[in-house]
This record gives sequence, structure tokens and C-alpha cells, in this order.
Amino acid sequence: MQVNSTLSVKTFDVGPMLNMIYLIWDKKTKEAALVDPAWDLSQVLDFIKKNNINIKKILLTHSHHDHVNSVDKLLNLYDVPIYINKIEASFWGKKYDNLTGLDSEENIYLGKSKLTSIHTPGHTPGSCCYSFDNNLIAGDTLFVFGCGRCDLHGGNPEQMFESLKNLKNNLHKNTIIMPGHNYSISRQSTLEEEISGNPFFNFNNLKEFVKYRMHDHDKTREEPYAPIKSC
Ligand SMILES: [Fe+2]
Repeated sequence: MQVNSTLSVKTFDVGPMLNMIYLIWDKKTKEAALVDPAWDLSQVLDFIKKNNINIKKILLTHSHHDHVNSVDKLLNLYDVPIYINKIEASFWGKKYDNLTGLDSEENIYLGKSKLTSIHTPGHTPGSCCYSFDNNLIAGDTLFVFGCGRCDLHGGNPEQMFESLKNLKNNLHKNTIIMPGHNYSISRQSTLEEEISGNPFFNFNNLKEFVKYRMHDHDKTREEPYAPIKSC
């Protein structure tokens, strides 16, 4: 991540699907959020205790099982609010007293440090990323040299095309991309590396993008994803 941030991040590898979950905390107050609590949280809980970190929030990138299956476990230990995009909250349909639906571009604070939610539909209707100080927690929207599937319930490749375009046009090129799964030859990358090496950034034409995402990609590429040579 970027060294000049007032926030720190630690990545944890969890579960059988190569999920990466992120603990983000304000360096001054140690107020923290856990992004996508799922699978075995024992390493996360040990780290929190050892470092006197104060869990204040749960942030969700989307509602798929492999990103949320330890939310209840964490809530039993820490009674904290859950943040998720508004559209995703209705898509998920799960009821919590302390669930906050986020608009796109809504800010969330840990101490005085700010994170911003960005609605990036495509993988699910209310998928969102969280940005702070030129870092992007990308969920299953953007992987290193890949992007989330759009053929599952609620997926929409047209929306994914727009979401990726918005990230490309609105984020600084040195933004560090921190994806929700470790599917690539590297765990993170920069937006600049993605624009040159991620095949999903290689399309200007919506129809061609949709065909590639829905049909061609899975037949022609294998994990771990490596950068493509752009023409
Ligand atoms: Fe997902």
C-alpha cells in the first residue's frame, strides 16, 4: 500500500477459494475495519489482540458467501456496524440491526482517516470498492490481471464494462489494487499495470467485452493470471 497513508493495512489469506481479507486501521487511534470477514478468522483475531487494534466496523465489498461467511462470528465478538452498498443490501436480503447501506462516493471514517465507497456493479448489482489515499480494496470487481465473473446470479457484464471504465478514468494511475482473491502471479498491482496488462481493460467496444467476459476468457486463460501483452 501507499506509505504516506494515515491508515495501515494487513492482508490475510483465508479459506479454500484464495480469498484475501483486509484489516485497515487508523495509525493514530487504532480504530479499524475488517473488510469481508470470511472463513477462519483466528489469525485476524490474534493480530487484533497482539496489536491492541480496536475493531469499529465491518466493510463488505459484496454479499457472496465466500466474503461474508464469518460476519456473524465476528459480530458475536464485536458489536459493530456493517457497511455495504445500498443496492447490495437489498440484493443480499439479510437483516441486521446495525447494517448501513452506502451510496456511491459515501465516506467512512476510522479516526480521522477517510475511506470512500465506490459502487462498481457487474459481479453483483451492488458490488463496491473502497478507496483511500490511492489504494483500492477491489473486492471481486477487479483482480490482478482479471475481473470478477458476471455469469452468477445478479452478474451483469455491461455494468462491469462501465465499472472498470470508471475506475480507469477516475483513479490515479499509481493506485494500488488490492483484490478479493489471490488469483494472479502477484497479490497486488497498480492501476497502471492493470491498464497495460489486464485483458479486461483492453476493450473499447462493449459487445466485444461482453463476449470475452461471458464466453472467451475462461477458455483462453488460466490461473494464476499473468499480464497480457497489449497490442
Ligand atoms: Fe464474489
